[in-house]
Amino acid sequence: MLKEFSKISRVDGLLNLPGDKSISHRAVMFSAMAEGTSTIENLSNAEDVRSTINCFKGLGCSFKSDGGRLKVSGKGFKGFNKPSLPLDAGNSGTTTRLLCGLLSMQDFESYIVGDSSLSKRPMKRVMEPLNLMGGSFKATEKFTLPLTVFPAYKPKAIQYIMPIASAQVKSAILIAGLHLEEETVVREMVQTRNHTETLLGLNCVKGEGYTDIYSSKSNYPIPGEYFVPSDISTASFFIVLTLLAGNNSQLTIKNISLNSSRTGLLEILKSMGARIEITNEDKKMGEPFGDVTVYSSSLKNIDIPSELIPNIIDEIPILAVAGVFAEGDFKISGAEELRYKESDRINAICSNMKLLGLNVNETEDGFVISGQINTSDALFESYDDHRIAMAFGIMSSLLEDGGRIHDFDCVAISNPNFLNQLGSIIP
Ligand code: S3P
Repeated sequence: MLKEFSKISRVDGLLNLPGDKSISHRAVMFSAMAEGTSTIENLSNAEDVRSTINCFKGLGCSFKSDGGRLKVSGKGFKGFNKPSLPLDAGNSGTTTRLLCGLLSMQDFESYIVGDSSLSKRPMKRVMEPLNLMGGSFKATEKFTLPLTVFPAYKPKAIQYIMPIASAQVKSAILIAGLHLEEETVVREMVQTRNHTETLLGLNCVKGEGYTDIYSSKSNYPIPGEYFVPSDISTASFFIVLTLLAGNNSQLTIKNISLNSSRTGLLEILKSMGARIEITNEDKKMGEPFGDVTVYSSSLKNIDIPSELIPNIIDEIPILAVAGVFAEGDFKISGAEELRYKESDRINAICSNMKLLGLNVNETEDGFVISGQINTSDALFESYDDHRIAMAFGIMSSLLEDGGRIHDFDCVAISNPNFLNQLGSIIP
């Protein structure tokens, strides 16, 4: 679908957004693993989370909507059924990589498939540490999907130093570790999102410049009542729009996840001059949340500290949009991981920004954007990547003559109601 946006004059309103996608994947997975019934409130309605649910249906779990909650009947320790069909992870890297950890410790063989974007994404990063734990896989020559997961031979706990900053890889190892008596230890040199640790209550010990995270069978999930705070990555598009829309724009978004491994965008925007206020803070199952109110503000670009990159990894497309409207050049580096997302996001952002007549210098691990917008007919590509589509939807809503985006439907991967939500905050 080609989607057209006109310039908006102002933002005003209140948003309630669905649950965080990362927390939702884990709430579904841990509920499915636990023996008995768990409930999940404010679960994400993202297609990615639907993919996780479908995979667990294939493993014998049942799901039932109960008012605003999802009821999950979990199968217990090694209680999953051998799937009779391939497990389809759709577009979701989190589903695939976390499942690799879980399935490698089951007593049956399984087969994971995905869409064309997911089938290009690297799986070696998760296969290597799981191989050290006894896990065994067959992927393509390029270490991509489709992937056969064989039962681990002589499974064993490991001590693993993370060679890249990846919450998905970290989580896969920790989830595999839940099946072993001995403790598995993952050492993380740079903090990535910690929802796996938080929801499972894992022991995390901070050293100088690293954190060690411990998992063993004693941490295997039991049934729970999950509350999923609203998705800060989904909120980021509306936050940046409000900041840039001018005319005394203001927006409150309720119950946003405020986990410190995810709030880097808010910190960076505040340092750029954004007026952002947080109220009604609370915490459930270790996950903090609160209401975020944003006011239109003048922004100035700053140096973005490289240790914050994993924290803002999903927000860089929309941060780049903020950077274009801020004073000074926008610069990001140390973000090579962006090349391995749903699209090569460095290339996708740079190509779209060039269409606006901006000066763009693309490097291996980032880019610099300078100059002035100089076009009256912006036609962007989504690269079938939900975050690129939404970032350039917001960009289009800020352009004097509006803009259009090819293949906009992919936004449903994380937020099927993006357009309705946007419509509801434009007076
Ligand atoms: C996620 C981790 C991040 C993030 C992805 C969700 C997760 O990926 O980009 O959208 O839920 O663990 P990496 O761990 O590969 O960086």
